[in-house]
Parts: sequence; C-alpha cells; structure tokens
Amino acid sequence: MVPRFALAFSHQVSYQALRRRMPALLEARRLRKTYGGRVLLDGVDLRLAGETVTTLGGPSGTGKTTLLRILGLLSDPDEGQLLLDGVNLHSVIPHAARRRIALVAQAPVMFPGTVLDNVRTGPRLAGEELPEATARALVVRAGLPPELLRQDAQSLSGGEKLRVAVARSLALRPEAWLLDEPTAALDAERADLIVRLLRELAAEGAAILVVTHDARALEQLEGPHFQLSSGRLVEGRPLSGDAS
Ligand SMILES: Nc1ncnc2c1ncn2[C@@H]1O[C@H](COP(=O)(O)OP(=O)(O)OP(=O)(O)O)[C@@H](O)[C@H]1O
Ligand SMILES: [Mg+2]
Repeated sequence: MVPRFALAFSHQVSYQALRRRMPALLEARRLRKTYGGRVLLDGVDLRLAGETVTTLGGPSGTGKTTLLRILGLLSDPDEGQLLLDGVNLHSVIPHAARRRIALVAQAPVMFPGTVLDNVRTGPRLAGEELPEATARALVVRAGLPPELLRQDAQSLSGGEKLRVAVARSLALRPEAWLLDEPTAALDAERADLIVRLLRELAAEGAAILVVTHDARALEQLEGPHFQLSSGRLVEGRPLSGDAS
C-alpha cells in the first residue's frame, strides 16, 4: 500500500505540473504591412517569450494596434510569418490557432447576452459548457464583482467591458496574450489589478505583449520594452515622463 504522505506528495506535484504550463513563444518574422501606400510595419521581427510581459509603446498612429491584430491573427501581414512554439500559424486551422492567442482590444465588442454568456462563448464554440462557478471565478479574477454575471454585457462601462474581455480570454487558457492599452479606461486600483493578473499569467508560462502608454503600468512590468518607430521596433524604455 502507498503511504498516505506519498499520495499527498504526488498529488501536489501533479497539481503544480498542471497549473504551470510550458513557457510559450510567439514569434513574428519580417512582418510588413502597408495601408494606402504608407509603410506601417517594415520588416518587424519580434520574439515574445513565455513567462515574460513585453511592453510596446510609440506615438499614436504608428501601427501598434495593426501589429497586435496581425499577431492576434485578425489581420494578415502583406509579408512575413508568425510562429507559436515553432509552429507556423499559417499551417494550423485558423480557429485552433486563434484559441491559443488572446487579443484584448482597447474597446472590446461584447457579444449579445449577459456577462456569463460572454465568458461561456469561447468554450461553447469549442464544444465545452463552462460551469457557472468557473465563469464566476474567471470574472472575479479579471477584477469584476460576481454580481455582474447576470448583467447585459452591452450595458457595461468601457472599463467593465475590458475586464469581461479579459475573463472571456481567461476561459480559453491561451498561451499568448496581446492587450491594447488595457489600463487606459481603468482607475489606478483596477489598473494595478490587471497588471498583477498579467504578471501571474506570465508566471504560469504565458507570452504577453501589452501596448501601453501608462507610466505606472510600465513601472510595474519590468520585461522588455519596445517602441514602434518608422515601421521598426526599437528596444529600450522611454525616458521617465515620456511614456509614449
Ligand atoms: N484597416 C485599415 N485600413 C486603412 N488604414 C488603416 C487600417 N487600420 C489602420 N490603418 C491606419 O494605420 C495607421 C496606424 O493605425 P494603428 O491603429 O495601428 O495605430 P496605433 O499605433 O495603434 O495608434 P494609437 O496609439 O492611436 O492607438 C493609422 O494611420 C490608421 O489610419
Ligand atoms: Mg492603437
């Protein structure tokens, strides 16, 4: 018979193994994108390492959202490749690849129905029914009060919609996260909560890219920082007081 302490120990080990994912790696190679003759991305290379929060800044209109949408498989580059853990994402069925990469837009669009319906949509499309208790836990983890679960998602404030979008993505357990100014519509306390969540997700193995101008968030996210400038990524943090 296996001693009781050994059973407890092996359970603990397997729980840790389940909770902690292998670090992911989302990689862009030589991305190029032009709109109306204007070159926004001019051969962008980017490696988003797992267990790391990478931040991205740069002046308005330089193409940060464009880059995020390409990395999130919502828009195609004119040229270039995307790889997740070394697998070329063009060779994967689009919806299977999309599940692995979460994109949280700055002003996320809510699906019709309640917050609960919204959080359940992703798993439902994959044939899973998310238990209400799990959905509630995800909503709380995203920084929303559980009472919002039954509220019409369209009626929420911008900051609440942002956190519903985070909860929706949590439900899919993505390996990579792309977030477009996630703290811009939040007060400092709730912004800190989102920043803390991103650090936790990175500690669990996720590769994370955050577009942000938020100096306070930048201070708390000590990973690599890039500026998008003239179609190229330049590594290095802005001087303090110039977080754009
Ligand atoms: N679908 C599109 N069709 C044509 N032009 C587009 C399209 N999407 C973006 N653009 C243009 O590309 C440029 C970059 O837009 P983008 O939203 O990527 O900038 P950004 O760096 O995210 O700016 P901000 O900091 O203001 O959010 C803008 O001039 C925009 O008008
Ligand atoms: Mg933008």
